[in-house]
Amino acid sequence: MAAQILPTVRDERGRALRDLRISVTDRCNFRCVYCMPKEIFGRDFAFLPREQLLTFEEIERVARAGMALGVHKLRLTGGEPLLRRGIEQLIGMLVALRTADGEPPDVALTTNGSALAVKAQALADAGLHRVTVSLDSLDDATFRAMNDIDFPVARVLDGIRAAREAGLPVKVNTVVKRGVNDHDIVAVAEHFRGTGVTVRFIEFMDVGTTNGWNLQAVVGSAEVIDRIGAVHPLEPVPPAYPGETATRWRYADGAGEIGVISSVTAPFCGACTRARISADGKLFTCLFATAGHDLRALLRSGAPDAAVQDALAGIWARRSDRYSELRTAGTPRAQRVEMSYIGG
Ligand code: GTP
Ligand code: 5AD
Ligand code: SF4
Ligand code: SF4
Repeated sequence: MAAQILPTVRDERGRALRDLRISVTDRCNFRCVYCMPKEIFGRDFAFLPREQLLTFEEIERVARAGMALGVHKLRLTGGEPLLRRGIEQLIGMLVALRTADGEPPDVALTTNGSALAVKAQALADAGLHRVTVSLDSLDDATFRAMNDIDFPVARVLDGIRAAREAGLPVKVNTVVKRGVNDHDIVAVAEHFRGTGVTVRFIEFMDVGTTNGWNLQAVVGSAEVIDRIGAVHPLEPVPPAYPGETATRWRYADGAGEIGVISSVTAPFCGACTRARISADGKLFTCLFATAGHDLRALLRSGAPDAAVQDALAGIWARRSDRYSELRTAGTPRAQRVEMSYIGG
């Protein structure tokens, strides 16, 4: 596996830098209740002005610096990344990069799927490797309530179909909130069973400060596995790579796989190789970080690529984050950044 010969910069806990998650916009057309509640992200909310966003060239430079340090996976996120004009062009630039051992990076995109029916073919043509679509319910009323803009589930399903027809491998992310969409877990699993689409059920997390998180609203992954397994027996699958966010399970009858992402009940910080760059060019070493490191000033100062790489290496070397593991004694909620800004 390539990772053995990739360059490696280790953080204070010995973890390598392997994944870079790139937020290309802090805007989204959805107002998911657990992410961008309407009351906060209303008409008056101050999103980033265009000049503060990293340009595609600047994003490419950060990605190249990361890849020189061992990054082999790039994930485009948001907000909603398909709202960023010309995203296909950025994808083309990123898939042309090479890791230190000469391989193309794994380039993925996380989307709410609302524009996928229109954009899937262009994304595939640009060279995108795969997509992850957020889909919290198949029940139209529940879905409309969760995205809180009355967006119909059928259009996201059309988007998933279009992505598959364009040849893009698809994963589905389902955030489970007790009393909101947990009645729908088995239906979501069954809809994608046998289709080649892997669904991952995500425990509702306490990211940001605005989503009203509480432990009672979390449905633990053990319960998700019990409920699906009661109908369709499941067997554990070993991780695809160390530090994988999802724990994998397969249907005993061979109808495919599901995953559970258990940031609350079984944190996976120990092997976390992920860095995030916000749309305005701040590097965050944890999803739950309270502050980022400004790379944009450096990028715009005329500094050479080597200086960007050094800055990245220095930030990573000083990293000690393990928020999910420390959750109970964690940082004060008031300071955390929002997921729509930092990217999922
Ligand atoms: P692949 O396995 O490459 O498909 O990607 P992934 O496992 O990184 O999955 P994805 O990017 O779809 O992330 C799924 C969800 O897991 C995110 O939306 C977050 O909710 C959660 N997640 C991803 N990375 C982290 C992380 O570093 N920490 C925590 N606590 N949660 C994460
Ligand atoms: N808890 C868990 N997952 C979340 N996401 C957004 N907010 C939360 C949260 N509070 C997920 C979305 C999407 C990805 C970008 O992050 O559902 O799949
Ligand atoms: Fe938008 Fe995704 Fe946040 Fe929903 S979870 S508001 S789709 S960024
Ligand atoms: Fe990584 Fe922070 Fe998530 Fe832990 S909480 S897995 S350190 S991003």
